Amino acid sequence: MPALPPGSLIVVVGITGYIACYAGLEALRAGFRIRGTVRDTQRAAALRVAYEKFGVDASPENLELVTFDDLGSEAQLEVAFADADGVINLTMPEFDSEDDYVSRMIDGMMLPLRVAARVPSIKRYVMTSTLAAADPQLVGGAPTAEPITEHAWNDEAVQLYNTLRAAGEKNQWVEYCAGKTLGEKAAWEFIEKNKPTWDLVTIFPACTWGPVMFGPARTTAQILAGLLEGDPTLCYMRPYTYVDVRDCGKLHAIAIAEESFGGKRTIAAAGPTNIKEVVDKLKKSFPSAKLPGGPSLEVPASKWNIDNAVATRALDNEWISVEDAVVETAKSVGY
Ligand SMILES: *[C@@H]1O[C@H](CO)[C@@H](O)[C@H](O)[C@H]1NC(C)=O
Repeated sequence: MPALPPGSLIVVVGITGYIACYAGLEALRAGFRIRGTVRDTQRAAALRVAYEKFGVDASPENLELVTFDDLGSEAQLEVAFADADGVINLTMPEFDSEDDYVSRMIDGMMLPLRVAARVPSIKRYVMTSTLAAADPQLVGGAPTAEPITEHAWNDEAVQLYNTLRAAGEKNQWVEYCAGKTLGEKAAWEFIEKNKPTWDLVTIFPACTWGPVMFGPARTTAQILAGLLEGDPTLCYMRPYTYVDVRDCGKLHAIAIAEESFGGKRTIAAAGPTNIKEVVDKLKKSFPSAKLPGGPSLEVPASKWNIDNAVATRALDNEWISVEDAVVETAKSVGY
């Protein structure tokens, strides 16, 4: 039995985001009605046009787009969540070196959960975490002896954050990993204690690439575009697992619809990769790009140690390849 039948109303928080717009698209394809929150009405109009190009019915009857200027406001979230059957929240606060990103991330994850717990129509809440909240290799740790499953936590990221903080240092990536780890732990504790009417699903995307649906390059696509201009930043980031944004969007829609996902953490990682493979695939399709080479590509190999069986099954054993993911990213931002 599905957790939510087609026709149910799903709120997608920040629907114009890189992954969120694919989550919304796939939920529409699965027959859900969507209420997407947006900050910018121009991007909202562009989203509707983009959806229509995919051949889905994105008329206001199926896709309601509501503008909120402050999703940190309980009152606005209450309006956004009213009468909804499900919520998908993928957004994250912007980094600001002036304050404590970790506590802002935790607060950001908890506020809409508390609001949702007061809306009895909600049956499922899907929250996006990151593989970096489970896998210590993503903060430079050693591969774990056991494969990374839905039970893994990146406690090393939290330790590293505490060490850096004690030394008065800041590192955006470490704070991101620690914030996601601690925020998600707080979320499961909240569920345990408050037993809301809905169940929680968390999704753990690996490094996400794939076409930007509309508008300029953002997030990881921006970094990939930089790589095509010879910027080696991505080499230092050592991506070693990936997922395509289209598969990631699909998994969010499945997470809303499938009973078996309820109360679980699901890893969205397609397979291993490394910076050399990414550069090689790009070189093949864009021979004139100024891609970095030489020693910057010789990063220590990380070990693929991830149990992605649940998502693999949910996607009928078909993940989009790393070549398709990176080449389509580049094309979508003008290469
Ligand atoms: C959910 O939504 C809020 C907006 O209130 C945001 O600040 C928060 O970081 C979001 N993200 C997740 C993954 O819960």
